[in-house]
Amino acid sequence: MPLKTLEWTGDALRLVDQTRLPQEISYVDITTPEQMHDAIRRLVVRGAPAIGLAAAFGAYLGVRHSTPAKFASDLARVRDYLATSRPTAVNLFWALERIRRVGDSPQRILEECLAMVEEDNAVCRAIGEHGLELLLRGKPAGSTINLITHCNAGGLATAMLGTALAPIYVGKEKGVRFHVFVDETRPLLQGARITAMELMQSGIDCTLVCDNMAAMVMSRHRIDAVIVGTDRVAANGDVANKIGTHTLAIVAQRFAVPFYVACPTSTIDASLANGQQIPIEERAAEEITEPYGRRTAPAGVKCYNPAFDVTPASLVDALITEKGVIRPPYALGGL
Ligand code: MRU
Repeated sequence: MPLKTLEWTGDALRLVDQTRLPQEISYVDITTPEQMHDAIRRLVVRGAPAIGLAAAFGAYLGVRHSTPAKFASDLARVRDYLATSRPTAVNLFWALERIRRVGDSPQRILEECLAMVEEDNAVCRAIGEHGLELLLRGKPAGSTINLITHCNAGGLATAMLGTALAPIYVGKEKGVRFHVFVDETRPLLQGARITAMELMQSGIDCTLVCDNMAAMVMSRHRIDAVIVGTDRVAANGDVANKIGTHTLAIVAQRFAVPFYVACPTSTIDASLANGQQIPIEERAAEEITEPYGRRTAPAGVKCYNPAFDVTPASLVDALITEKGVIRPPYALGGL
């Protein structure tokens, strides 16, 4: 049974604590916007679509006891507050804006949150179907599809099915075989901790590699495609995703391996002309110097720890969305 990223209990949003995976499967019940802000910031819940859903529920938690007289001002305040939890995933802002538009009562907001979860499931399934068709194109029936992925854009990054991993899960249902090289994804190891766990639980053949092994993997193995998720796509098709994605895309181009990015259209930010305008989160130096509770670098060393990088559209062979596969030249303003 796959882990449930998030679940409304009737009183709280129950999150699987992703900081503790894979050693421990534990859940936290979030009942206040402050707890939700902290959960998003600490990556208890993470991945662009899941962050958006969590923030929407966080907004509901902030207004559920509001009087009609204070509802609008409470909602504005809690939205502004939750918007400061993480800067890069545009789904956070998209979800909070959607809540603003429907927000005329707490009940209405809760209904919208629940509808967004259902919608996320449908959107991810559609991404899975379109992505699978793309991956199977030109492949002899019965062959194994060999992929590389980075970070976690699987079920735990969405409500259920994931984006980059959705074609794999949909393909598995249809009897397609896959092998996935999983980048460990320094510094917080979302690939090793979460993607490898998810794929293994789903019975998908996978092999864990360090982030710096992509060229070796591509030079020694037949790789059909790289497939990753994204936190924000600019109007020109530049893509922000977990740090290391850009390097992987450069290596993929060198070895003529197609580089695909799977995302819901809610991850497209057509207000930004290009990726240079995407806000990139920088996280604490300790994530690099003291990973996993152990110091691995000299005290006081200077660190640069951007959580995301921007892959230029010129390296992206296709975007896989719920509306279909989009090829360059990207002009995403109309989506
Ligand atoms: O810092 P994280 O773990 O939230 O980063 C997640 C990613 O980079 C994912 O690839 C992206 O959000 C897409 S999730 C479907």
